Amino acid sequence: GPVVALVPAAGRGVRLGENKPKAFVDLGGTTMLTRAVDGLLQSGAVDRVVVIVPEELVESTRTLLPGEVTVVAGGSERTDSVRAGLAVADDAEYVLVHDAARALTPPSLIARVVAELRCGRNAVIPVLPVTDTIKTVDVLGAVTGTPERSELRAVQTPQGFTAELLRRAYAAADGIATDDAGLVERLGERVRSIVGEPTAFKITTPLDLVLARALVEEGAH
Ligand code: CTP
Ligand code: MG
Repeated sequence: GPVVALVPAAGRGVRLGENKPKAFVDLGGTTMLTRAVDGLLQSGAVDRVVVIVPEELVESTRTLLPGEVTVVAGGSERTDSVRAGLAVADDAEYVLVHDAARALTPPSLIARVVAELRCGRNAVIPVLPVTDTIKTVDVLGAVTGTPERSELRAVQTPQGFTAELLRRAYAAADGIATDDAGLVERLGERVRSIVGEPTAFKITTPLDLVLARALVEEGAH
């Protein structure tokens, strides 16, 4: 059945500080959003792409992207935006959720996530080991713990799911989640991690944008 990719791109990009929604920031002559969509189409593993953008940008995004891409309005939290995308993905057997902000994600990673779904996994996420030691702290900044680093992973997208499971996770979701797999975990369902890619990093801060622009300049992307 069809693989539908949902691309949340409705965030405001507050941490990037570029005075426009992040997905529309220039990255080597095109937007982050266009690069993210191109990567999905180039993977050869995705049948349909649904992009979720701020309401006032729906019309302009339709002219920016290829005609076969569906564009809908998002909401105030990422969870609301993904939900809006899911609502127009009725035909999906598998759903990928892929941040526009991971604009340089290699198409080969996207294809690997889909291959795992087609092998029978119900939920698949790309992850990388963390390099910093991570600590938990309380509201006053006192350290409350040091999780064992070897067990920690930084999570990327695309995250892949059977459509049935992701719909069930969103139906049960109360409040917000920073990651779609987190909602699936709350159902008690098994989530499979695979090895991610350094270039699938999320462009979040000005420093991330410097790195992304340098990679594009270098011609690796
Ligand atoms: N996103 C979305 N709808 C929201 C919030 C986020 O579609 N209401 C999307 C963003 O556009 C981005 C992805 O979710 O592609 C990851 O979110 P994040 O990196 O936090 O982006 P922003 O929310 O735009 O950034 P910030 O939190 O700094 O404002
Ligand atoms: Mg955000």
